[in-house]
Formats: sequence, C-alpha cells, structure tokens
Amino acid sequence: MLRELVLKNRSYRRFYQNERISKAKLIQWIDLARLGASGRNAQSLKYAVINEPDLCDQIFENLAWAGYLSDWNGPIEGERPAAYVIMLNDEKLSRNYFCDDGIAVQNLLLGAVEDEFGGCILRAFKEKEIREILKISKDYSIIQVVALGKPKEEIVIEEMKNEDIKYWRDENGVHYVPKRKLDDIIIDI
Ligand SMILES: Cc1cc2nc3c(=O)[nH]c(=O)nc-3n(C[C@H](O)[C@H](O)[C@H](O)COP(=O)(O)O)c2cc1C
Repeated sequence: MLRELVLKNRSYRRFYQNERISKAKLIQWIDLARLGASGRNAQSLKYAVINEPDLCDQIFENLAWAGYLSDWNGPIEGERPAAYVIMLNDEKLSRNYFCDDGIAVQNLLLGAVEDEFGGCILRAFKEKEIREILKISKDYSIIQVVALGKPKEEIVIEEMKNEDIKYWRDENGVHYVPKRKLDDIIIDI
C-alpha cells in the first residue's frame, strides 16, 4: 500500500552502520528517481553514489543533523549512514530544475523504504568540502545529500499542538514528528 510506505518513509538519522548497501541497490533506487516528473522534461539531475566506508566517513564530517535537537550532534559511530546519494544538477543541461529534486528524492526514498532501508534528506552540508572530497566539477551544483541505511530508530508521527513544528525525542530515544491535522491544511473557499 502506498500509504503504508509513505508513513514508513520518515527522516531516519540513526542506522545499523554495518548493514552496508551495494552500489547496485543504490542505483535501483536512483532509477526510481529517474522516472519521476521533470519540468520541461529537462532531466538535469545527476547522482554520485557513495558506499565505501572511508568516503562515507569523510562525507559524514560535513553534514548537519537535526537542527532542533540542540543537544544531539548526529549519529554516533556504529549508527551512521551506510551510504550516501549526492544529488547534483547538471548546469550544462539546465540551470533550472524546478521541483524535480523533491519528486526525485521522494521516489528514491520510497524505494529504499520498500527494501526495508531508509534515509534522510540533508540540505545543511558544507558544499565546498563535499565538492572537494568527491572532486565534483563546476558543471554540477550540489542540491542535497541523501543519507541512507538500515534504520535503527523508532519514529512516531503525532498531531501538532500549539503550532509547535519542532520534532523531539523522549527519554527512550523515540523520535516524534508533529504533523499538522488534515483539516488544518485544507482551506475553506
Ligand atoms: C528540503 C529538506 C531539507 C532537509 N534538510 C535536513 C538537514 O539538513 N538535516 C536533517 O537532519 N534533516 C533534514 N531534513 C529532514 C527534515 O527535518 C524532516 O523531513 C522533518 O523533520 C519531518 O520529518 P519526516 O521527514 O520524518 O516527516 C530535510 C528535509 C527536507 C525536505
């Protein structure tokens, strides 16, 4: 069921780091991204695939995790992502990727979730450092980093109260994500 997959597709930030993900598997998920809608059908998105532990360590150093959890510095060693997909825009093909990036990353993550993996979109990253580590040419802008792995955390969706949009964790490490009520996002016209 699509609804079940969408519900399960949370932003996971703690993983079983030793559960590695093959490049072939990552490319299968990218294939789902490839099949998404594209403004002007320009299809300017490209992807760098990283699953080597050494490279993963280097990428990890340049990411910012869960801004609302001020007392948490991101996943500890052993719970870090097993792979990353770096989404790029090929500026030679099109300077404007409209909203292709969101459609593509959702398709990719749904593929991961269907395969019992999961991930997190990261837009807070050190662009210059990641560009250098991966030797990404100036022809590509870096749009986002998608961290991937076998989830090792429980995430609960809750109803938003008092307009508080901040996710939070309880004493057992369960991660809660407030969502607005359906009634509150449909306007009367
Ligand atoms: C455009 C975008 C950028 C995001 N950037 C980050 C980020 O840099 N670091 C992070 O930990 N999470 C990031 N997230 C994850 C959001 O915090 C997450 O989607 C939100 O808390 C809701 O949780 P959910 O995805 O489980 O519904 C990003 C999500 C989106 C859509």
